[in-house]
Amino acid sequence: MQLPMRTPLFSSFFMMALCLLFFRASVVSGECLGDQQSSLLQLKKSLVFTTSLSTKLVHWIEDVDCCLWDGVTCNDGRVTGLDLSDESISNELDGSSSLFRLGYLQKLNLAGNDFNYSQIPYQFEKLKNLSYLNLSNAGFAGQIPIEISRLTGLVTLDLSNTNSFVPLVIESPNLATLVQNLSELMELYLDGVHVSAQGSEWVLALSSSLPKLRVLSMSRCHLSGPLDSSLLTLRFLSIIRLDGNDFSGPVPEFFADFQKLTSLSFKACGLTGKFPEKIFQLPTLRKLDLSSNVLLEGFLPEFPPNGSLENLWLTQTGFSGTLPHSIGNLKMLSTLDLSDCNSMDQSQAQWQTLHNWFMWTWQATISLDQFHHSAWPRI
Ligand SMILES: *[C@@H]1O[C@H](CO)[C@@H](O)[C@H](O)[C@H]1NC(C)=O
Ligand SMILES: *[C@@H]1O[C@H](CO)[C@@H](O)[C@H](O)[C@H]1NC(C)=O
Ligand SMILES: *[C@@H]1O[C@H](CO)[C@@H](O)[C@H](O)[C@H]1NC(C)=O
Ligand SMILES: *[C@@H]1O[C@H](CO)[C@@H](O)[C@H](O)[C@H]1NC(C)=O
Ligand SMILES: *[C@@H]1O[C@H](CO)[C@@H](O)[C@H](O)[C@H]1NC(C)=O
Repeated sequence: MQLPMRTPLFSSFFMMALCLLFFRASVVSGECLGDQQSSLLQLKKSLVFTTSLSTKLVHWIEDVDCCLWDGVTCNDGRVTGLDLSDESISNELDGSSSLFRLGYLQKLNLAGNDFNYSQIPYQFEKLKNLSYLNLSNAGFAGQIPIEISRLTGLVTLDLSNTNSFVPLVIESPNLATLVQNLSELMELYLDGVHVSAQGSEWVLALSSSLPKLRVLSMSRCHLSGPLDSSLLTLRFLSIIRLDGNDFSGPVPEFFADFQKLTSLSFKACGLTGKFPEKIFQLPTLRKLDLSSNVLLEGFLPEFPPNGSLENLWLTQTGFSGTLPHSIGNLKMLSTLDLSDCNSMDQSQAQWQTLHNWFMWTWQATISLDQFHHSAWPRI
C-alpha cells in the first residue's frame, strides 16, 4: 500500500517544484535591471509631488521589482514605458534628471503635471528610442527645443497646452525645422502652442515632412490662411482639428478629396465664402464642426444613402436653405446643431423631416433654438 501513497506525494512535490520554477521564470523575465531600478528611484527622489494626489510614484517601493511598479512597463528588465501623467509633479525637470538615462524608453507620458513653466529640457534627445511622447498640459513653457526634432522614431507627439497662461512657442526653430525629420509621425497634437508662421507656411512645413500623418490637431495655434492644397499630400489624414485659428478665408474644395477623413473641425476660424457641399458627401466623414463662423455660407445638400455623418455642428454660421429630406439617410446621425443659424429656413414644414428622423434615432440631439419646446414632435 505504501507505493501508491508515495507516488501522489512525489508527484505533488514535483508539481510544486515545477510551479516554483515557472513562477521564478516569470519573475525573472520582468526583473528590473539594477541600473534601471536605481534610475527610477533617483527620478522619484528628484520630483516634488503631492503624496495624497499621486497614484503611481507614491507606491514605488525600493524592495519591489521596478517592473511591477505602477506606471512602469518593462521588456527584458529594461524600462520601455513610463506613464507619470497626472502625478501632481510641481518642480522643474532638471536636465541632469535620471529620466534621461532611461535610454530604452519607447513610451513616455508626463502629461497633466506642473513643471513650473520651465522649458522642455533639451536632454529629451537622449531618449532616442521614443515612439510616443506626451507632454500635454505638463506646465512646460517657452520655445520647444530643436532637440525634439532628433527623436526621429516618434509616431505620436502630444505637446498640446490648452490650460496654461504661459504658452509653449514654436518660433525659432520654426515648425518646418522642428518636424523636418519626424517622418514616422502619425499623430501630432500642438493645440494651444503659439506657432509663428506666415500665411500657409505651416501647411507646407507639415505636408513636406509628415507623409504618414493621420491625426493633425492644431487648435488655437495662431495659424493663418490660406489653406494650401499641399495639405492633400498627407493622404492618410483622418482627423483634422484646426479650431480657433484665424483663416479669414474660404474652405477649399480639396478637403473633399481626403479619402480617409473622418473628422473635420473648423470651429471659430473666421471662415468666409461658400462651404463646398462636396465635403458633406465624403463617405468616410463622421464629424463636422463649422460652428461660430458667422460669415460662412452654404446649404445642406442631399445626403447619399448610408451617409456616415454622426455629428454636425452649424451653430452660428450663415448657412441657409432647408433641411433636405435625405437627411434621413444619415442613419448614424446623433447630433445636429443648427441653433443660431439665422438664415436656415426653420419653418413648420421642416417638422415632418425631423419627425421622421426622430422615429429611428431615439438618442439624437437636435438643437434648433428658433423653436419653442412645446413644438417638439411627439414620438
Ligand atoms: C517654481 O519656480 C519659481 C520661480 O522660478 C520658484 O520660486 C519656485 O520655487 C518653483 N517651484 C518649485 C516647486 O520648484
Ligand atoms: C534602444 O533600444 C535598443 C534595443 O531595442 C538598444 O539596443 C539601444 O541601446 C537603445 N538605445 C539607447 C539610446 O539606449
Ligand atoms: C496624453 O496624455 C493625456 C493624459 O493622460 C491624455 O488625455 C491624452 O489623450 C494623451 N495624448 C495622446 C496623444 O495619447
Ligand atoms: C535632418 O536630417 C538631415 C539628414 O540627416 C540633417 O542634415 C538635418 O540637419 C536634420 N535636421 C534637423 C532639424 O535636425
Ligand atoms: C448600406 O449599408 C448596408 C449595411 O451596412 C449594406 O448592406 C448596403 O449594401 C449599403 N448600401 C449602400 C448603397 O452602400
